[in-house]
Amino acid sequence: MPRTALVTGASSGIGAATARLLARSGIHVLLHGRDKDRLTALAAETGGTVVPADLAEPGAAAELATRALEITGSVDLLVNNAGVGWAGPLPELSGERLRHLVAVNLTAPLELTRALLPSMLSQHSGQIVFVSSIAGRTGVAGEAVYAATKSGVDAFADSLRFELHGTGVTVGVVVPGVVRTEFFERRGRAYTRSTPRPVSAERVAAAVVRAAGHPGDYYVPRWLRIPVALRGAVPGAYRALATRFGAES
Ligand SMILES: NC(=O)c1ccc[n+]([C@@H]2O[C@H](COP(=O)([O-])OP(=O)(O)OC[C@H]3O[C@@H](n4cnc5c(N)ncnc54)[C@H](OP(=O)(O)O)[C@@H]3O)[C@@H](O)[C@H]2O)c1
Repeated sequence: MPRTALVTGASSGIGAATARLLARSGIHVLLHGRDKDRLTALAAETGGTVVPADLAEPGAAAELATRALEITGSVDLLVNNAGVGWAGPLPELSGERLRHLVAVNLTAPLELTRALLPSMLSQHSGQIVFVSSIAGRTGVAGEAVYAATKSGVDAFADSLRFELHGTGVTVGVVVPGVVRTEFFERRGRAYTRSTPRPVSAERVAAAVVRAAGHPGDYYVPRWLRIPVALRGAVPGAYRALATRFGAES
């Protein structure tokens, strides 16, 4: 059981629900995000410590790792959850926004993990969980860059699993479909489809906690593994079906 955890993006949605769940089992949670008012309120509720940082800024992830270690001495569980979306035709995505998506969703979790890994390895224990997305496993129209950042996180997590085998440091991945959070409002396009049906942030948070204790890939909801398996086994048939029924969110 970890004693300390760093949850990125704890000011909202999945991250806030995860922080609450971890705090309920007695874990000291470092609450990361940018919104200091929300983080302070969550700290009062959970007994956690606020560690604000804008992960779009170069070097911010490494600084966050240093601050986290100064506060707790060790981070036993790292939940790489902070992320942003963007949806629309690719030519309408500005270069600045593209770089922002890559910085927050991909570069930051990679850097944070790299910076915290040495202390986990020296303790011969540690848990790292990534909140990825079904978009990174199947591809989604209008979300090519978002999907690419999540695919990158997946490849990083898979590679690290091999690299860390036998070290006592574990890697888990949570792959949500559609979750009822502020994500869609913030990305600027509401979710209007009827399937997949949105799930609660608490349900995803429960999968994050499971992925920490029993590392593996956790789809939320579980049936999302079926389109991914289909895409792997018969990619042509999968693409034909997805194109017909609309591969967008
Ligand atoms: N909602 C979904 O349907 C869905 C589906 C699949 C995967 N996901 C993934 O789940 C994760 C959590 O998303 P959510 O649904 O909980 O959305 P959310 O409610 O919008 O929460 C996003 C979190 O990320 C933080 N964040 C965003 N930009 C940041 C930045 N530049 N620096 C630091 N923190 C930043 C936000 O902090 P501040 O508000 O304090 O800036 C917030 O705490 C994301 O990685 C997302 O890609 C979501």
